[in-house]
Amino acid sequence: MNKVQVDYTDAMKLTTEVIGSYGALLVANNRAGRPNVMTIGWATYGIIWGKPMMLVLVRPSRHTYKFIEEADSFTVNLPPPDMADVATYCGTVSGRDADKFKEKNLTPVPGKQVSASYIDECVVHFECRIAHKNHVLPQLLDPEINKGCYPNGDYHVIYYGEILGCYKSEDYEL
Ligand SMILES: Cc1cc2nc3c(=O)[nH]c(=O)nc-3n(C[C@H](O)[C@H](O)[C@H](O)COP(=O)(O)O)c2cc1C
Repeated sequence: MNKVQVDYTDAMKLTTEVIGSYGALLVANNRAGRPNVMTIGWATYGIIWGKPMMLVLVRPSRHTYKFIEEADSFTVNLPPPDMADVATYCGTVSGRDADKFKEKNLTPVPGKQVSASYIDECVVHFECRIAHKNHVLPQLLDPEINKGCYPNGDYHVIYYGEILGCYKSEDYEL
């Protein structure tokens, strides 16, 4: 599919809608270059250090965690509504147990500006260079959130990705 670069701010409404409903698809490649994909519902974006940043939260129990820890970049991909079932699948099945790209006929393509792959079938993708990461710290966290979101520990790691590029499918209207 032909992809064209757009200003990342043009994709923010769609990004917020997708993240807040069936979820976006986070891709990270391991050291060998193999991609893994998982669904994310917690992410945010804005300006930090004078640069556009996308922040994603990954629990250490995820297979993706192993991959993103070996990576210097990731992509965030927006599936259109008719791919909502793919988001559900990628959010309930682990890459430890299945090749999700193969199972769902997803095509990983090397990023245009980063080494992480993007998903050709998604209508928008962000290419992000990891600029920083930190752990959610229980001792600094609101006790209610701690109780509600982390009954078993597994505190997220937050990855700060500098948005180097945002692309959309040529025939998709934002
Ligand atoms: C809608 C939705 C949103 C999700 N958001 C996140 C998230 O933001 N962070 C996270 O660590 N897991 C999230 N998950 C869970 C992972 O996607 C799920 O555990 C997945 O199977 C992990 O795949 P992996 O083991 O291949 O990395 C979400 C799941 C769904 C269905």
